[in-house]
This record gives sequence, C-alpha cells and structure tokens, in this order.
Amino acid sequence: MYIPNVWYAIADSNEVKPGKPYAFKRLGHELVLWRDQENRIVVMHDRCPHRSAKLSPGKIINGNIQCHFHGFQYNRDGGCELIPANGRSGPRPKVFQCGVIPSHEAYGLIWMWNGEPQAEYPPVPFFDDLDDYVYATFQTTWNAHYTRSLEGLLDVSHLPFVHANTIGRGNLTLVNGPYTTLQDNELRAWMSNQPDVGLPALKPTQLPPPNKPADLWLNFPNMWRLRLTDQLSQVIAAAPIDDDYVHLYVRTYQRFVTAPVIGRLVAEMSNLFNRYVVKEDQEIIESQSPKISDLNIGERFIPGDRPIALYLQRRRELILGEKSASLRLRKTQPEAIDPAQISA
Ligand code: FES
Ligand SMILES: [Fe+2]
Repeated sequence: MYIPNVWYAIADSNEVKPGKPYAFKRLGHELVLWRDQENRIVVMHDRCPHRSAKLSPGKIINGNIQCHFHGFQYNRDGGCELIPANGRSGPRPKVFQCGVIPSHEAYGLIWMWNGEPQAEYPPVPFFDDLDDYVYATFQTTWNAHYTRSLEGLLDVSHLPFVHANTIGRGNLTLVNGPYTTLQDNELRAWMSNQPDVGLPALKPTQLPPPNKPADLWLNFPNMWRLRLTDQLSQVIAAAPIDDDYVHLYVRTYQRFVTAPVIGRLVAEMSNLFNRYVVKEDQEIIESQSPKISDLNIGERFIPGDRPIALYLQRRRELILGEKSASLRLRKTQPEAIDPAQISA
C-alpha cells in the first residue's frame, strides 16, 4: 500500500542516460524510464500494448521508444507513432497506447506521481535549502519494506546499540524527548540523547522548545534527512521497489568545500562513512517482521519512538484519507497508540 497522490522519489537522474530505455521496479510496478529528444524524462509501464512484451529491451529512435518485438514506436505521451507492419503511412489505432505515469525530474532525482493525473501538481517534497551544497550518492538495496527503512532512520534509541562504534559512540542510551513536530507532511525531530546517570528520560513536554533546526527530517512519502551541521547533511530517498525490497539513494550534502572537483571529492569521502553506517542498519532492519510496518501489528512504543509513531500515524491518515483517518484509527485499531499520548 503506497500513499496516494504524492511524488515518490524513485531513481537518481544519472541512472537514466539519453538514448536508451532502462527497466526499474518501483512501487510494485515494472517501469521503463527513458528520455525524449529534449532530454525530458518519461516513466511508463514496461509493457507494450501490442503483444505485452517489455519495452525496456527496446531502443530510443527519434525521441520515441521502439518495442523490440515488432518495432512499434511510442512517443513520450504513450501514443503510437509507427506500426512497421502497417507501413509508414498505415493506420496506428488509438488502442495502441502505453501507460504513462506522470513524472518530474529535480534535485538530481526522478520522481513519479502515485495517483491520477492532475491539472496541477504540488512541488516535489525535497529540502529546498540544499541548493548551494555539493553532493555525492551511493545506492543500496535492502530486503525490507521502505516503511521499515524510514522508521529505522527515525529511530533515536538504536544509535548506541547498532552504531556503537560510529554515529552512536558515547553510550548515549537515555532518550530525552525527542521533541517532534509534524506539519504539512513534514516531520521534524530534535535529538537529545544523553548518558544514563540514573534520572528518568525527559518527556517531549518537559523539554524547552528547540531554538535550532531539527536534526531529523522526513518529508512524506520517502525523503529523509539528517542535518549534522549547518554545512553537512545526509539525505536518503527510500524508493520502494515492492512489498519486499527498498532501494536507498544515500547522499552526503556538504558546503564547506564547494570548488567543483574537490567539493565532490569531499562529499564522496564522507559518503564512504555513510555507506558503512547504512550497512550497520541493514541486517537488523531486514530482520523485522512483519515486513510492512503499521500501527496495529502488535508492536509497542516507548516515548523515544515518538517520531516513528507519528510517521506511522500520518502514513495511515494519508492512505485512508485525511478526514476519516483519525476516526477510523480509533474505531478499528483500539490497541494503536496515540502518538500524542506517548509523549504525555
Ligand atoms: S509486442 Fe511490442 S511491438 Fe509487438
Ligand atoms: Fe541506524
């Protein structure tokens, strides 16, 4: 189940070069991604309407995609431009129409719209303060649902355990808060972990309002960010492949060195560390069952899980529909924890 009527980041721009179609599986769909003559991205179902062959082994010819089987050509809107067997001036019936998915390219990412085409689309949910940063990307596939990967990225109490020798050094096992906000499908959390000196953890309401930008950012449906400093952030696009797999695009954004080559090198170097940290998470996240996370699957929360609980609640609301969600949650999920309560 994917959140309807939102932009999902599904691929890195560099993965789709001009002149060639590329096969991707995203959100459970077999897709073909390619570029037209103006280099504009096209996202289509990877299925030829003639005899159902995949389009991705085909070619790009004059800005159209050509099916490898009988040579039919389709334009960026999915319309049939040529049926070779009918002749260049022969009929091209409208039934030969490919399934095109609304797409957009921005911030070095390719986005697909998960829903009906709209007259107007909202902006893609990226972080718009990263324009003057230099970034480097690496990719990895996990045998996990994308909800589990995002939860893991919002999980502040696992740091001293899973990442004891990297980002969780210092044995900061006590989780104060975390102070968490959720507005306009943007979740923000401020971390204040500390060593356990015998006092109970502070609840979010006992913490002073933060006077700095949040540490953890999640923009629905699948963009995550860890803001390490004013100059350095990690960003992950958790692109759902299907119910069993997620493909992570992991980026380091930095702006302490922005000279073209050196800046990129610095980003690449710090992304190596990222690669190591992400690897630390993989095995434990892949071990979680059931694969698809939700509020009503028998798991229990602690106050420190507040960002995760809020993420899951908002996800349900977006899937069930804004208006009826809270009501339905109460009616059908009596055991679901109200994230507002766990902070009380
Ligand atoms: S199956 Fe694609 S042209 Fe025949
Ligand atoms: Fe982690």
